[in-house]
Amino acid sequence: MSVSIKSPRQIELMREAGRLLALVHKELHSALKPGMSTWDIDRLGETMIRDFGCIPNFKNYNGYPASICVSVNDEVVHGIPSKKHLIREGDIVSLDCGLIYQGMHSDAARTWGIGTVSADAQRLMNVTRQSFFEGIKLAKEGNHLYEISAAIQDYVEAHGYSVVRDLVGHGIGTHLHEDPQIPNFRQRGRGIRLQAGMTLAIEPMVNAGRYDVEWLDDDWTVVTEDGSLSAHYENTILVTKEGCEILTLLPEEEQ
Ligand code: MF3
Ligand code: CO
Repeated sequence: MSVSIKSPRQIELMREAGRLLALVHKELHSALKPGMSTWDIDRLGETMIRDFGCIPNFKNYNGYPASICVSVNDEVVHGIPSKKHLIREGDIVSLDCGLIYQGMHSDAARTWGIGTVSADAQRLMNVTRQSFFEGIKLAKEGNHLYEISAAIQDYVEAHGYSVVRDLVGHGIGTHLHEDPQIPNFRQRGRGIRLQAGMTLAIEPMVNAGRYDVEWLDDDWTVVTEDGSLSAHYENTILVTKEGCEILTLLPEEEQ
């Protein structure tokens, strides 16, 4: 396994790839409303990405047919946008999206509630988002990769939820998926030593019930086996000597 260290120039480009992607997420969030189709969301996102002069990196990735993964309620990730799937008040909607800016990739996911959602659904979204922040407290040169994994799992399980095992985060840069794989759960050993200049996509997927998932017949959509709700939160980060920089978050989203 080889984990690339990005050059200062590549890091500059990834900052811009990240900033533009954060703007796409912001726009999609404000556009979400009951009655909209998941296909409408994809059209809006892809148009915005192309208007920025960027390329949607999910489109045609291993045959994935859209630019945004839209996963509703018990769908965990990789939901395929459809004109027939209308989002409704009370749904939780995970949007996973990425783009290429001058050869460098960014990748980020958010889960939003449509109108008023149940207290349980809101708590699941909050815990999922916070688990990312708990994980990246360990993202720093000299620490080891699986310290991040363990911190995410511990936080999620302390809140009574479970972390999906079958999908993981990843390195990112000149490709959408680079080494290393980044599980959101404890591993044997401690993983690679983190170095400044590594860029990683950290992406906890959290189920309200059991962690088991299954694939629908479309071969993409991942759903919880027990039908429980699932949330996803992801950012592209840059490891630094002091800690990390989140590349796909707008200043107003910082906690
Ligand atoms: N964001 C996803 C990931 O982190 C990528 C979706 S796979 C695709 O792996 F095929 F939809 F692009
Ligand atoms: Co990703």
